[in-house]
Amino acid sequence: MKNYSVGISGVGSFVPENILTNYDLMKMVDTSNEWIVERTGIRERRIGSKDISTSDLGTEAAKRALKDANLKPEDIDLIIVATITPDHLFPSTACIIQDNLKATNAAAMDINAACTGFVYGIVTGASFVKSGMYDRVLVIGGENLSKIIDWKDRNTCVLFGDGAGACVLERCDEGYGILSYELGSDGENRQVLIQPGGGSKIPASMESIEDNLHTLKMDGREVFKFAVRTMERTSKVALERANLQVEDIDLLIPHQANIRIIDAARKKLDLPMDRIYVNLDRYGNMSSASIPVALDEAIRDKKIKKGDNILFAGFGAGLTWGSLILKWNKEEDNV
Ligand code: ACO
Repeated sequence: MKNYSVGISGVGSFVPENILTNYDLMKMVDTSNEWIVERTGIRERRIGSKDISTSDLGTEAAKRALKDANLKPEDIDLIIVATITPDHLFPSTACIIQDNLKATNAAAMDINAACTGFVYGIVTGASFVKSGMYDRVLVIGGENLSKIIDWKDRNTCVLFGDGAGACVLERCDEGYGILSYELGSDGENRQVLIQPGGGSKIPASMESIEDNLHTLKMDGREVFKFAVRTMERTSKVALERANLQVEDIDLLIPHQANIRIIDAARKKLDLPMDRIYVNLDRYGNMSSASIPVALDEAIRDKKIKKGDNILFAGFGAGLTWGSLILKWNKEEDNV
């Protein structure tokens, strides 16, 4: 078994054009711009049109990541799509994207770890490259959450948005790429964030529709407490495993759910705000797409250069969590 270093060789993202502002939401539910901004930090989010699905968003993000990596679709050995809003329960969204791209040499599968999905996807994909089994893996985090939101529930409908981000994983020089990670789960608390209907436990029926079981349900306060605890703890585990200190981190890219969660975790970690990338004000929570879209924007904003230590930290339904530290391996002028 080989033990190659694995890094990100290409990044891309795509969000729908249509913007839904807090003021638009005020016409739909009993809320206000002030409440949403103060309690979440979100000002607007992107919403895909009716005929857009997760595979459409993911395909576009993937094309951009492939271009950034200077690769053709047929160079890809494996496509992993992290999503909780697949086009269908089966076949996988990864298979649909494989067809859209004509990635004729790729295996394809989906991963469901909710908002932690992208971190799970990167760790899974990197394991194949590290072992020498595959040379190039495409990991996509894509969500069309607007299709599973209860647009009458002000507790949840103000929080989420649609989008997709993608990365290509390849071997890189020793000392660069993924340095450490931690993945975890706590299924006992799965009820705090759930889409109850549509699976084998509660298949779609007239009754399940009448009971409104096909939309996202969340106990916001419980998720909030879990998120703050977890972001700090999992970040510290990844730091310890990489033998790094908090001050060695050049940029934290957290899951973009709520500015208060990020701020509380930042304080616990004692990390200055200028070393955290935040774009949730413009996109809301895009679940598994949040981290890769933020990564792509951070690169385009010139916030990342070769040799920087980048920390991803995520949490989500499951419950799940994950963190990962990368020493950035791409030259600045290539990105
Ligand atoms: N507009 C106005 N008032 C509102 C709104 C709204 N959009 N939503 C809730 N309220 C009201 C509530 O009804 C409540 O009123 P009450 O006191 O009369 O009952 C009041 O505001 C306070 O509600 P809380 O739930 O206590 O508000 P809180 O400060 O906890 O903020 C929030 C709620 C934003 C949901 C917060 O708990 C949170 O961010 N939780 C984490 C959510 C999260 O990260 N989810 C994603 C996980 S990732 C994944 O896997 C999908």
